[in-house]
Amino acid sequence: MLEQLKANNRDWAARKVATDTEFFHRLERQQAPEYLWIGCSDSRVPANEIVGLDPGELFVHRNVANLAPPQDSNYLSVLQFAVDVLKVKHILVVGHYGCGGVGAAVDGRRRGLVDHWLHPIREVFDQHRQEFDAILDERERLNRLCELNVMRQVKNVATDVFVRDAWTRGQNLSVHGWVYSLSNGLVKDLDVTVSNPLEAERLG
Ligand code: CO
Repeated sequence: MLEQLKANNRDWAARKVATDTEFFHRLERQQAPEYLWIGCSDSRVPANEIVGLDPGELFVHRNVANLAPPQDSNYLSVLQFAVDVLKVKHILVVGHYGCGGVGAAVDGRRRGLVDHWLHPIREVFDQHRQEFDAILDERERLNRLCELNVMRQVKNVATDVFVRDAWTRGQNLSVHGWVYSLSNGLVKDLDVTVSNPLEAERLG
């Protein structure tokens, strides 16, 4: 099976060179992506493919349930490098409907370490308890939680000191919240874009 992957890789590299002989030479020298993608690890949500971007065009951080926890050094290292060094112009927080991680946060079952990782989602759920009580369809409830989770992570990113400092320096930087649909492959913009500290304060 791994032989197949290696063969796929050789084909892919050959195709890239066939359409653009300088492709790898150019990328070898530097990466200059304009976007940072913070998404879920789910194998059905392949970042570059969804938005049609080539290698070198999208800086990517993925974890279970697309979280941006202010104490997570992995996420923070990615964020700082993207903002301070790469100077990306857009940060895309991209959740997806039907997210198993989001569902696992609130289904009451114990799984171990991941229950702690998913804790911020339970907080979002508790904050919006009334809204959820009014949604009778379970799938609809999960999908709404996926949206609210993205909005919460947008707030985390937009209120982070790395992002604040970038705005203070006059750097052009926006944070966006999207949700991807597994059923039709389309991304929905939640219209919670934040491009300055004032807009960040207005987020719920
Ligand atoms: Co997911």
